[in-house]
Amino acid sequence: MTFHLVKLEEHLGESVASSERAKVRKKFSWDNLEVNLYLFEEGERFYIDAAGECGLKTYVVIEGSLYNIETMRTLEAGDLLVVDGTQDVLHFDALEHTTIMIHSYGKSLFGTWEKAKREIDQVMDRIQMRDSYTREHCNRVFDYVSELGRRLGLKGQELYSLDKAARFHDIGKVYIEDSILNKRGKLSEEEYEIMKGHAILGKELILENFSEEIYRIIALHHERLDGSGYPAGLKGDEIPLCGRILTVCDCFDAMTTSRIYKEAKTPEQAIQELKDSEEKFDRDVVLALEQVVKGQKWMQEETGE
Ligand SMILES: [Fe+2]
Ligand SMILES: [Fe+2]
Repeated sequence: MTFHLVKLEEHLGESVASSERAKVRKKFSWDNLEVNLYLFEEGERFYIDAAGECGLKTYVVIEGSLYNIETMRTLEAGDLLVVDGTQDVLHFDALEHTTIMIHSYGKSLFGTWEKAKREIDQVMDRIQMRDSYTREHCNRVFDYVSELGRRLGLKGQELYSLDKAARFHDIGKVYIEDSILNKRGKLSEEEYEIMKGHAILGKELILENFSEEIYRIIALHHERLDGSGYPAGLKGDEIPLCGRILTVCDCFDAMTTSRIYKEAKTPEQAIQELKDSEEKFDRDVVLALEQVVKGQKWMQEETGE
């Protein structure tokens, strides 16, 4: 029998990198086994996708604790989680400063995460080049959507798809010409019609990087419950919860940020306006957003920001 003793502190010093979400402290690869340490700060979120691409993975919590949305269980230091590729996406919230060790057997987990990150960065760069507001707007909408999705009970693949859709919901704007996209002032009727096309443009780009489901949610982000939205003019139950959440968060962020042609509303004014438009926006979603906004305000008052 061959016996190898590996002291992580001595062997894993060479690689420091970041995945989409976490800091990768150290990486160790050996044949088809890879060991990574991931660091999360309190409040950071991450997901584990189905392990099919990477083979078997085991996760050990070294320090700190994590809450798993899907099982509603807390993993603490010493807990072990084995993911065998047959399950749905798992979402975690770091409850404190947390380190997890991931053993990945088969395809490199680190390589897979890095590849995904590169692709996402390329897509985001394409948005940034055309319109920097849109990228920041997409990131803020992602934060609201991610919180609301959890509060409203979404889990697994559905939550994963909603998060990704939020991050890229306005990606179709890269196909709208500059004179319309960055126009200082109100769009003409004809220009507005062209602008509306952004809700469904970019299908190929999305499908190259993500799934059909994510594209479907993106295409819902300008629909309204009373059928007055676009592109399909869907009504009521034809708009699933994911679409309702994305719609409310998208409008809220647009209302609370200033542009050259309009002043920003306060979060309270925006919430009230959304509540007053009950025929267009899902009331339960708006009420959940109100709780998030109140929580943020309370935190800002506490920290004096
Ligand atoms: Fe949009
Ligand atoms: Fe948007």
